[in-house]
Amino acid sequence: MKRTVLAILIVMAVVCASAGTLFAQAKKAPATITLTPKVKAMAPITFNHAMHSTENKCDTCHATATGGALKTADAKPNAFHAAGAKAGLCIDCHVTSAAAGKKTPSKCADCHKKA
Ligand code: HEC
Ligand code: HEC
Ligand code: HEC
Repeated sequence: MKRTVLAILIVMAVVCASAGTLFAQAKKAPATITLTPKVKAMAPITFNHAMHSTENKCDTCHATATGGALKTADAKPNAFHAAGAKAGLCIDCHVTSAAAGKKTPSKCADCHKKA
C-alpha cells in the first residue's frame, strides 16, 4: 500500500517537472529589449529582438534552440562586449555582417543612442 502511494507521488513529481519545462519554453521574448549598461555614462541600447531572432537561429545567441542563458559563461558584460567594444556576442556578428555588406551598427553611439 505504502509503495503504491510512493509510486503515485513519484509519477506526479515527474509530471509536474515536465510541465515546468513546457512553461519555461513557452516564455516569449519581447519584440524589443532595453539593455541598460551598468556604466551610467553609456546610454541604454534598444535591442530589436524580433528582427534579430527572425534573421538568426535562437542558439546563435542563446544556449538552447528555445532561448535561455546567453551563449557565454560570463554573460554580462562580456557576451555584449569588453572595454573598447572590439569583440563580443553583438560586435563579432556585426563585423562579419558588415563585411558581407549589411548595415550594422559599429560606432559606440550607434548602439548607445542618447534619447
Ligand atoms: C542576436 C541574438 C539573439 C537571438 C538570435 C535570439 N535572442 Fe533571445 N535574447 C537576446 C538578448 C540579448 C536578450 C536579453 C537578455 C538580457 O536581458 O540580458 C534576449 C532575451 C530573450 C528572452 C527573455 C529572457 C528573459 O529571461 O526574460 C527570451 C524568452 C528569448 N530571448 C528567447 C529567444 C528565442 C525563442 C529566440 C529564437 C526564436 C531568440 N531568443 C533569439 C538575444 C538573442
Ligand atoms: C548573428 C548576427 C548578429 C548578432 C549576434 C547581433 N546582431 Fe545586431 N544586427 C545584425 C544585423 C545583420 C543587423 C543589420 C540589420 C539587418 O540588415 O537586418 C543588425 C542591426 C542591429 C542594430 C540596428 C538596427 C536596430 O535594431 O535598430 C542594433 C541596435 C543592433 N543590431 C544591436 C545588437 C545588439 C545589442 C546585439 C547583442 C545583444 C546584437 N545586435 C547582436 C546582426 C546581429
Ligand atoms: C553592437 C552594439 C554596441 C556597440 C557598437 C557598443 N556597445 Fe557598449 N554595450 C552594448 C551592450 C548591449 C551593453 C550591455 C548592456 C547591459 O549590460 O545589458 C554594452 C555595455 C557597455 C558598457 C558597460 C559595461 C557593463 O558592464 O555594462 C560600456 C562602458 C560600453 N558599453 C561602452 C561602449 C563604448 C565605449 C563603445 C564604442 C567603442 C561601445 N560600448 C559600443 C552594446 C554596444
